[in-house]
Amino acid sequence: MKIVHEPDELRRACDEARAAGERVGLVPTMGALHAGHRSLVERAVREAGFVVATVFVNPTQFGPSEDFERYPRTLEADAALCRDAGAALLFAPSRDAMYPLGDETRVRVGATAAALCGAHRPIHFEGVCTVVAKLFALAGPCVAVFGRKDYQQWRVIMRMARDLFLPVEVVGAPTVREPDGLALSSRNRYLSGADRARALAIPRGLSLAHAAFAAGERAPAALVAAARGPIEAAADSVDYVELASPESAQLLAPDRAVPERALLAVAARFGGARLIDNVVLGEDPAPLATA
Ligand code: PAF
Repeated sequence: MKIVHEPDELRRACDEARAAGERVGLVPTMGALHAGHRSLVERAVREAGFVVATVFVNPTQFGPSEDFERYPRTLEADAALCRDAGAALLFAPSRDAMYPLGDETRVRVGATAAALCGAHRPIHFEGVCTVVAKLFALAGPCVAVFGRKDYQQWRVIMRMARDLFLPVEVVGAPTVREPDGLALSSRNRYLSGADRARALAIPRGLSLAHAAFAAGERAPAALVAAARGPIEAAADSVDYVELASPESAQLLAPDRAVPERALLAVAARFGGARLIDNVVLGEDPAPLATA
């Protein structure tokens, strides 16, 4: 696996791969990679003959009081994981390479980015879409794989690709969990042992709501309460526990029966970590076999 740092090198490598008849696969990441990222690279390898992973801690998607500075930077280990998972190229640009002096253009996002994380991190999805649009422009026609743990991000990027006619197939790959149900996240590194034990309230809460839904419950308040109970009891604070459309990520009406498929999404803080997780009721398995 080759490691490159310059945007032109990424563009050239992807152009050459396509000229040689390969499909290009792209896995954008911010590094601090774990088995969840590995599954994204492996998925891309199943979809494409030339797979590029990218590692870039993107400053424009972090708010002023968020964790940009302390976000773990582990490039050597990230490279080993990508190589092992079958990537052909790792693109690890500098901040100046992605945002050269004078850079000022941003992608303005819409309704898909407004609720859930968008309501709590106002510039987040603009920053995500801006950097992902840059990566898509450099990679050219490709299949790009994102994790469904960041469910809203996946839908926002899919919307952007469609709206801007970008030649990219955007794939969402399933969340990878620890055996005890905790969704893998680079931010799990911020958790102490005690914080981690408390954070298990997230898969527990989602699983309780999943069980209620499977038993026929369709009242939004009852499903949200089932998930929220354990999470609120354990977390330092809860940003949201909401039901939304799996397609548009817009909130469901609180006074209407929940449809046959619904996104139940959570963001909550435990110690130094803001964790997000979700389940699509009517589609995904429960995070825990027994809640
Ligand atoms: O999900 C992430 O790691 C980031 O938001 C992404 C998509 C790589 C953009 O910086």
